[in-house]
Amino acid sequence: MQKLEVFGANKLKGEINISGSKNASLPILAATLLTNKKVYLNNLPKVKDIETMISLLRSLGSKTKFNKKNLIVDNSKQNKNFASYNLVKTMRAGILVLGPLLAKFGRAKVSLPGGCAIGTRPVDLHLKALSKLGVKYKIIQGYIHATAPKGLIGTKITFSKISVGATENLIIAATLAKGTTILKNCAIEPEIKDLTNFLIKLGCNLKWLSNRTIRIKGVKNIHEIKYSVMFDRIEAGTYLVAAAATEGNLRIKKVIPEIIKTEINILKRIGAKIILKKNQIHIYGNKTIRNTNIKTAPYPGFPTDLQAQIMVLLCKANRKSLIKEDIFENRFMHVSELNRMGAKILIKGNKALIEGNIKFTAAELMATDLRASVSLILAALTTRGKSIINRIYHLDRGYENIEKKLKRVGAKIRRIN
Ligand code: UD1
Repeated sequence: MQKLEVFGANKLKGEINISGSKNASLPILAATLLTNKKVYLNNLPKVKDIETMISLLRSLGSKTKFNKKNLIVDNSKQNKNFASYNLVKTMRAGILVLGPLLAKFGRAKVSLPGGCAIGTRPVDLHLKALSKLGVKYKIIQGYIHATAPKGLIGTKITFSKISVGATENLIIAATLAKGTTILKNCAIEPEIKDLTNFLIKLGCNLKWLSNRTIRIKGVKNIHEIKYSVMFDRIEAGTYLVAAAATEGNLRIKKVIPEIIKTEINILKRIGAKIILKKNQIHIYGNKTIRNTNIKTAPYPGFPTDLQAQIMVLLCKANRKSLIKEDIFENRFMHVSELNRMGAKILIKGNKALIEGNIKFTAAELMATDLRASVSLILAALTTRGKSIINRIYHLDRGYENIEKKLKRVGAKIRRIN
């Protein structure tokens, strides 16, 4: 099994180009199932989750091929509606094929994704909302067997809780439904806006009526299009934290700063100096890191996917800080590993009390999920000595070329078998 060896404590300096967004690419790939025409996708990140989604599409009968920087998805002969456990279990976003398959075929059999390291992660919101569009379903031996006997029929749906995945699944499903669907209390993550921009370009009739309400009028014909996926805001946030934690100086390129202003404002509050340009952010880490309190929340709040990374930074703050995790119930697995590196973090329910002024010590560590893994790299980058991070397959699910990108800005990091 591969490991990462990290030698700190270099100040990171230079430029990093941010890749395309994993979390925008996944629903867009699922949404290609709606059309029989070719779709050309640009800026997909080269990460494992994208490979898994492409394998899932291929298992459903899609033809895909890479041509220079584009992935061409050809669904003209796509004819299967069965998404197997083997593919969906490794990546929860596999559930996103349920909406388009139902929209297209009126029936689908899709594996339940099951729980994962960061919580139970049910799909009840997806299923409840799909039922309102006329879907009947049964869960049999871990599979959702769903049919829409009269086709999908547009209606008004208010989500009882904000969910990124359920919003995406329903938006995609409703694009081919009969009549008009109004979805209220939607998630409005930038990746969802990227999905709706993609669908609009495809010829779907979508309109955001207000902040969290979207209107979708069913359409019959969909075009052939080219689309370039947005930047990965979590990757950008991760490297911003890396600069702040190592007192570095990084130019984060190929981003839209406006989209991550919550994160930028927090980094400024903590003491980093930040200069914004049109498509780049220049950050200078400060020696003194000021403490702060953060709670994770749906967009435009602070992203749960950046919680582990910012915690590393707060360990180095001048006083105690507090992080409240309001999205997932079990997203503090990085804490025990950070504590093994000398951090003093106490968990009380969904709150982490973080002692400041910590000097991490190098250690051998175990990665537990995607964002937890990267937080261990960040901590290791701030301290002298050799840290070894095991189980890095989690990292490869979501960070494109992380060692290369870090090496180019002065980190000593290498992959070993
Ligand atoms: C997406 C992101 C993930 C991010 C998360 C929150 C992708 C591929 N993944 O995950 O990186 O951390 O948003 O920003 O885009 N919930 C239910 N029932 C449901 C669905 C969700 O109770 O049917 C709960 C979840 O357990 C969680 C909360 O709602 O507590 C938010 O989850 P959701 O927004 O759906 O996250 P994902 O779409 O799975």
